Amino acid sequence: MQGKRILLIIGGGIAAYKALDLIRRLSERGHAVTPVLTRAASEFVTPLSVATLSGSKVHQDLFDLTQEAEIGHIQLSRSADLIVVAPATADLLARMAQGRADDLASTLLLATDTRVLVAPAMNVRMWDQPATQRNLATLRGDGILFVGPNDGSMACGEYGPGRMAEPLEIVAAVQAAFAQGPLAGRHVLVTSGPTQEPIDPVRYIANRSSGAQGTAIARALLALGARVTFVTGPAEVPPPEGAQVVRVTTAQEMLRAVEAALPADAAIFAAAVADWRVADARTSKMKKVAGALPTLSFAENPDILHTVSHAANRPGLVIGFAAETDDVIANAAAKRRRKGCDWIVANDVSPATGIMGGTENAVTILREEGAETWPRMAKDMVARRLAEAVADALRNPKPQDIVS
Ligand code: CTP
Repeated sequence: MQGKRILLIIGGGIAAYKALDLIRRLSERGHAVTPVLTRAASEFVTPLSVATLSGSKVHQDLFDLTQEAEIGHIQLSRSADLIVVAPATADLLARMAQGRADDLASTLLLATDTRVLVAPAMNVRMWDQPATQRNLATLRGDGILFVGPNDGSMACGEYGPGRMAEPLEIVAAVQAAFAQGPLAGRHVLVTSGPTQEPIDPVRYIANRSSGAQGTAIARALLALGARVTFVTGPAEVPPPEGAQVVRVTTAQEMLRAVEAALPADAAIFAAAVADWRVADARTSKMKKVAGALPTLSFAENPDILHTVSHAANRPGLVIGFAAETDDVIANAAAKRRRKGCDWIVANDVSPATGIMGGTENAVTILREEGAETWPRMAKDMVARRLAEAVADALRNPKPQDIVS
């Protein structure tokens, strides 16, 4: 991708320090960053650091006549290919939603005809407030792009959603905003890897999924221009560069992350989710007791694919996987109906096939209309073909999927 002109509005929150790294990461990729600091932001980062890292003049004041003579604020707001607001505080989002123009940042945002990507950052209570949620809904309706926030511990000592997305995640969202290809402008959710279910603080139950097929699918979707949220358990294979990566450990965490990532145009469930978790996972390490064996009792994990397939905000296309060893097609067809997904990617993982842990895969795609068997090929090729099929389906939705 060619370097783009990015107007970066830095809001006044503690996460402003991450904006410095963001400038570096964007510059490394050839983008030219023009920074704007709100008055509050300059309490958190100095104009000097921002100017040094961006190699550009820092714009701060609406009524700076010298700046206005050099480049008017209307021109400033329109000469960018993309406006990025990071961190976007609750106050800045509220002012954007209301269309205020009482400082340089809000005036630029109101005057622009360029796309805007915001990375919210605020305390979890502020994020959860109905007022903030109303503002977010308004801004989404206005076509504002969002990245994050993430769940995590915050500078204020609380835990939950509100932490600004990491600089590389914001870079990924920037790249996605400029993406070209049949999936440009589409958001696709992919689950991948195994889940781990704790027994006690040092032991867990897991499975042998490496995350290879899910990662290859995410990469193929990115190559077609999609914005990808990649929710992954602890996998062997590193996550794809350019996706918004959400790392989870348990099935319950995976469900929460998936629900937080919706809405999406399509969702592909390639994760090997543990069907059960230990109901009474211990908070301290289980000790050996002479002559006595431990007993674990289990609870059923949520079925993420089934939950999303029946959700009110269900993606238009939901794809599951069925790894089977016997009666592959019949079992997979039954699974597709049971889970309520549109397509299921079935494969035979009997040891004789060498598919489990191998580099090739032989799959059959089961849809309402029937089954399509693909020849055995490299897992990367399966991913590419699946991504192309997703692009086709989103381009040509079935008549019953078109909502007027
Ligand atoms: N899946 C899920 N959540 C679960 C279990 C499975 O989202 N708790 C998804 C997987 O990501 C996959 C599909 O459901 O896309 C099929 O998973 P599988 O484990 O094969 O299905 P099960 O319901 O466990 O059926 P069975 O054990 O009978 O094969």
